[in-house]
Amino acid sequence: MSIQWFPGHMTRARRQIQDKLKLIDLAVELLDARIPISSRNPMIDDILMNKPRLIVLGKSDLADPKETEAWIERFKYEGHECISVDASTGTRVGEIPGLARKLLHEKIARQIAKGMNPRAVRALIVGIPNVGKSTLINRLAGRNIAITGDKPGVTKGQQWIKCGTEMELLDTPGILWPKFEDQLVGYRLAMTGAIKEQILDIEDIAFFATRELINRYWDTLVERYGIEEDRPADVEESSEIVRIMEAIGRKRGCLISGGRVDLEKTSGIILRELRAGKLGRLTLESASTY
Ligand code: G4P
Repeated sequence: MSIQWFPGHMTRARRQIQDKLKLIDLAVELLDARIPISSRNPMIDDILMNKPRLIVLGKSDLADPKETEAWIERFKYEGHECISVDASTGTRVGEIPGLARKLLHEKIARQIAKGMNPRAVRALIVGIPNVGKSTLINRLAGRNIAITGDKPGVTKGQQWIKCGTEMELLDTPGILWPKFEDQLVGYRLAMTGAIKEQILDIEDIAFFATRELINRYWDTLVERYGIEEDRPADVEESSEIVRIMEAIGRKRGCLISGGRVDLEKTSGIILRELRAGKLGRLTLESASTY
């Protein structure tokens, strides 16, 4: 991840977001539709306090549409308004300002009753690094704006970005941290590309990714790589996962001297193709199991 988080950073990030809450009507919590739990800040309810919130499931073009629908239902059941978007093409992004107004309809109705002319809804986008905050802000703004996150210790004047007539966004998104202490979360973030692999072992991540794929998307794996192996009976058995990785490597010609499979090269292929959506639209966390 581009930011190294320490307890001091977390406290500052939290304070920076809480300072901005005074300026806004609602928070837009951006999650990755493929991993709505792992891309979520563990203290989000506490950080946003009672500010009205719209949950946006981003990168929906890469996620399983059925699972995304289930997550939307789940968040709605929990009392949050929720929508899925693909900020890379702009699909459904245009619905966000209308939803934001819908969420604030009581406040707006009160303003109208007092004879006031309701102003545009003011919002702040919050999310973990690489979840797509800048891409979403640019889509909402309809133009390309250089977006910088808050740097600890650096203060600057706030700018409002107009998103049509209905909504205004703060130009610096609120950067949150994921649940670092959970190893599974780290691996899922690495698998989806939210954590850059320079700081992690590529074979480790690909091993984890292959296990997840065997568990959840075995047929997809077989189809993509044309492997003829039996499905591992026990995914907790490391040698079984390596057997599948080696089969993929052989199919892709990743061989080194002695006919052995180059696992590092194979790992690179698996992760690159997974992140680019070449294995199809995959969701790693189901609403039904959380
Ligand atoms: P951030 O501000 O939250 O840190 O995230 P940012 O917008 O920079 O997005 C991170 C990466 O995710 C970018 O890829 C961006 O194009 C991609 N992205 C954002 N939203 C979507 C989406 O809805 N669908 C898809 N498919 N991709 C999305 P990148 O610039 O190529 O960076 P990287 O791949 O080098 O990490």
